Amino acid sequence: MDTKLLVADFEDWRDAVAEAVTLLEAGEVVALPTETVYGLAACAFNPEAVAKVFEVKERPTFDPLIVHIGRESDLEKVALVPEEIKALVAQLIEHHWPGALTLVLPKHPDVPDLVTSGLDTVAVRLSAHEVMREVAKVHGPIAAPSANRFGRISPTSAQAVMEELGGRIPLIIDGGACRDGLESTIIAPTMTEKGPVLRLLRPGPVSKEELRLIAKVEKVRNKPGAAIEAPGQIASHYAPATPLMIVEKPGQFVPEEGKKYGLLTYRGSGGACLINLTDWTATQTLSPGKGKLSEAAVRFFYCLRELDAAGLDLIVAEPVANTGVGVAIMDRLKRAAAAHRPA
Ligand code: TXA
Ligand code: MG
Repeated sequence: MDTKLLVADFEDWRDAVAEAVTLLEAGEVVALPTETVYGLAACAFNPEAVAKVFEVKERPTFDPLIVHIGRESDLEKVALVPEEIKALVAQLIEHHWPGALTLVLPKHPDVPDLVTSGLDTVAVRLSAHEVMREVAKVHGPIAAPSANRFGRISPTSAQAVMEELGGRIPLIIDGGACRDGLESTIIAPTMTEKGPVLRLLRPGPVSKEELRLIAKVEKVRNKPGAAIEAPGQIASHYAPATPLMIVEKPGQFVPEEGKKYGLLTYRGSGGACLINLTDWTATQTLSPGKGKLSEAAVRFFYCLRELDAAGLDLIVAEPVANTGVGVAIMDRLKRAAAAHRPA
């Protein structure tokens, strides 16, 4: 299959949106830009189209998809918000939609089980990217996970989607580089005896600090062997094919003769002094200069992708500060490191 690449720039973006909607209505899948990472979209109410998403991504069907809506009022088409959390959900929407916050809520019966992998909840988000929002507004709710093959690095540019899914899908809309660069924060808003609680299922661009302004935040931990509540918590998600090791202090990494090493550093020479440890085959700096976590987040998957393509034996990664969006960067780094660790 030929994969068409359409640039959604100022003059042509309506045509690009129309073309995407036509394909979605025909039961096809298309890659669309969002502010977090690119998504692979299908009509949320068409199980055959949704099945194509799983097939193209080689994604196991136990891993549910996020549903994107184009306007707040469409929430009721995909979710049934319980009375007791209506005010909480309204507050979350007011502060963070459109944006990088995904809400896990009881699902509407119209949403096929395939979308939610049989869970009685659905993950919903309203993207801040005009193209994704407009497509979802004109077409209606669309299911769209990240546009990468399962277990691989999420794409933050149309070019990266082409590398992942070129030849497998009919259309990629190029809406520029993703503004946030990391997948959305996923929370389940709940009411407890002690009041409202936001259960954090995946850290992302909307930080814990920001969420705490609205309600208490509780991190969901997966006990080994316990059923997974959000399959996105699988340790090996978001991984490069190259083994990756997080190195906090120079002594933790001893280079071996003849091996090719790559360095992922936060701000270059000023960091944990890893730069002089060996003759790096490749280096990528997340935020050159003073170091800014938001810039590091935007560049994170791009840098990982570049290092992954450099034919290395090992990627050595320097940790970033565990605050704000740094929590989400560390989450993805730890998963990448866990992917190759012997069980
Ligand atoms: O930023 C994002 O969220 C991107 C853009 C494209 O929207 N999407 C994304 O989708 O990251 P995906 O499928 O790669 O990750 C969605 C995660 C999955 O790990 C899935 O397990 C979790 O959301 N999820 C989906 N439905 C859920 C549910 N009902 N309960 C708990 N977790 C859910
Ligand atoms: Mg993904």
